[in-house]
Amino acid sequence: MIGDRKVLFSGMQATGNLTLGNYLGALQNWVNLSEEYECFYSVVDMHSITVRQDPAELRRRARALLTLYIAAGLDPEKCCIYYQSHVSGHAELAWILNCFTYMGELSRMTQFKDKSSKHADNINAGLFTYPVLMAADILLYQADVVPVGIDQMQHLELTRDIAQRFNAIYGDVFTVPEPYIGKVGAKIMSLQDPMKKMSKSDENPNASIYLMDDPDTIMRKFKRAVTDSEGSVAYDEEKQPGICNLIDIYCACTGNSRDETVAEFSGKGYGEFKTKVGESVVEKLRPLQEKVAELEKNKDFIDSVIKNNAEKAQYVSNKTLRKVQKKVGFPERIR
Ligand code: TYM
Repeated sequence: MIGDRKVLFSGMQATGNLTLGNYLGALQNWVNLSEEYECFYSVVDMHSITVRQDPAELRRRARALLTLYIAAGLDPEKCCIYYQSHVSGHAELAWILNCFTYMGELSRMTQFKDKSSKHADNINAGLFTYPVLMAADILLYQADVVPVGIDQMQHLELTRDIAQRFNAIYGDVFTVPEPYIGKVGAKIMSLQDPMKKMSKSDENPNASIYLMDDPDTIMRKFKRAVTDSEGSVAYDEEKQPGICNLIDIYCACTGNSRDETVAEFSGKGYGEFKTKVGESVVEKLRPLQEKVAELEKNKDFIDSVIKNNAEKAQYVSNKTLRKVQKKVGFPERIR
């Protein structure tokens, strides 16, 4: 708790171009929850270097992501929006938590298995302990709730296990966080292979809608989206995973329910349905893209957000860090 408000933490990697999955699965919920909680939204640039990055490009993407948070509707006066690398406590707590996390637990993480098979020439220790840094992010702020897409659930469960393990030894040090998974959009799938999640790192550009895609590109990608030969818009995950994904995207963009969507397109062809889904996405992203363009012109404002919020995050996180350091037996600082 901060004051009388519960705490929310979440973050995104500044790697690759953000997709519609990131927006509908996470960012949109962040905005909806931001009034209710004391929020910390981090651009997790330290996580990004677990795979090789071009330094200038990483810096550019990190800033673009921070700008996007604000463009999506997060108010930097109310939410703490900051770069993970500007707050030293993340790395410091991660080290301590590493000593409370087992190799076996980390070996079971599906994201580690996926990423190490994709980057077989660079299976570094950071990639392996990535979920511990994520646990540190969350526990540092004593977060009650963590809004994420389904793909991050396993990491969140590990975070809870680490917190409970630590608390069992040292008393109630960490708040054990709850995941928040949105009702729709928690797992947006690839437009080219509806059995795979839509991902920033997909090599096929037609598989993902990027948040900065222009309307023509968005419409073209939806026209090419893989469907099936059933020929009717119905929500059947086994037989029609591609259509289910399009229904979910449409619901997340329009606010309509699955039943309403199925009823709206009953008796209509896939061509018409895909066009409508594409249009709903174009309309959803238009204000976001306009706001990004406007904010990008305002360098001083973005710089002030970066500076002020890092200070706030540093202050809040230090409280937890000092407590943890004391618990594990590090000597007191002499002032
Ligand atoms: P990242 O950067 O891969 O994704 C950011 C958020 O977007 C969600 N997401 C999706 N949701 C629905 N459908 C999809 N296809 C889709 N793809 C991505 C993710 O679930 C996530 O919520 N490890 C995290 C970043 C992180 C973090 C944290 C998150 C670091 N520390 C602490 C929460 C709390 C990651 O790589 O997310």
